[in-house]
Amino acid sequence: MAPCSTVILGTGSYAPAGILSNDDLAKRMETSDEWIRTRTGIRERRIAAPGENVSDMGAKAAAAALADAGLKASDIDLLIVATITPDLPMPATACLIQNLLGVPTNAACFDLNAACSGFIYALDTACAMLSSGRYKKALVIGVEKLSSIIDWKDRTTCVLFGDGAGAAVVGLVPGSGRGLLGTRLGAYGDSAELLWIPAGGSRTPATPESILRGDHCIRMKGKEVFKLAVRAMDEAAREILEQHGLHSDQIACVIPHQANLRIIEAIAQYLELPIDRFFINVDRYGNTSAASIPLALDEARRSGRIKEGDITLLVAFGAGLTYGSALIRW
Ligand SMILES: CC(C)(COP(=O)(O)OP(=O)(O)OC[C@H]1O[C@@H](n2cnc3c(N)ncnc32)[C@H](O)[C@@H]1OP(=O)(O)O)[C@@H](O)C(=O)NCCC(=O)NCCS
Repeated sequence: MAPCSTVILGTGSYAPAGILSNDDLAKRMETSDEWIRTRTGIRERRIAAPGENVSDMGAKAAAAALADAGLKASDIDLLIVATITPDLPMPATACLIQNLLGVPTNAACFDLNAACSGFIYALDTACAMLSSGRYKKALVIGVEKLSSIIDWKDRTTCVLFGDGAGAAVVGLVPGSGRGLLGTRLGAYGDSAELLWIPAGGSRTPATPESILRGDHCIRMKGKEVFKLAVRAMDEAAREILEQHGLHSDQIACVIPHQANLRIIEAIAQYLELPIDRFFINVDRYGNTSAASIPLALDEARRSGRIKEGDITLLVAFGAGLTYGSALIRW
């Protein structure tokens, strides 16, 4: 029998209803729509309602992905949640989503932290576990409530991020030639402190003083991150294309991590691809970290940007500093 491929059987996404525009931010702090748009391409971002948890958003995206795949929660035996904003330090948000959806108790459920590259890391993990033959159907969710870890007094970071969720159902399909063709993952751990949350972990537990300093919030050296993001995403994209003997022109649609339009434009230039080959929604959501790629992937599929037989390139970069790329044939 021909070997099985790991195939995305359905996708879903969820964005909270609350919209925070650049003009709204300009009323709260010294910034402007013009500054944010020209530096980042972001016009607005979604903000979760009070009491709207990461598990709630992740479960909604997952339910949409299950419906798209024509499957039920009871079909799932592997649930991976990529997030840096879990509901709680423990237990894993995957277990909370398992409970919300009614995924069976004999399913493996765990969280994965690879920041903005999290969905590609989780997809690769799910595909490897499915390929082992020990699991049949996986739910892979990328979800964030970054509004909960932003320092709203730091205009250099707070304008960049938003909340949202995206999900994919992955399963084994015999000899289809479709599915995940390969991935290229990596990390620059030596640059961890370019983009980090200094306090609140076991190294530096939160104290009243650390909270006053905002050390439990995202801190970033923007210019350095920008340069490394472009380099890592370009390398990750180039290497995976080379590994599979493909030219960038054979990619029908690139789904990049939606951090900054200028980063996406730079990658397009390096790959010698027109910008319209890239699916872009950073203008409407800002950077939603692990949710960014599955949210964009779902919108791309639902808007007809991805057709049967197309090859899609996913490429991401995030805190860690992690990076990753994936090739998918539909
Ligand atoms: C953050 C980022 C948009 C800043 O853009 P930049 O081109 O590096 O910034 P510039 O040098 O043009 O501007 C910096 C100036 O703008 C000011 N500024 C910063 N944020 C501002 C804001 N929201 N509104 C107005 N001014 C702002 C700074 O204080 C600084 O002022 P100064 O020159 O008087 O000190 C850019 O570095 C970036 O996108 N980095 C990557 C971030 C990222 O994507 N991280 C996630 C990766 S997963």
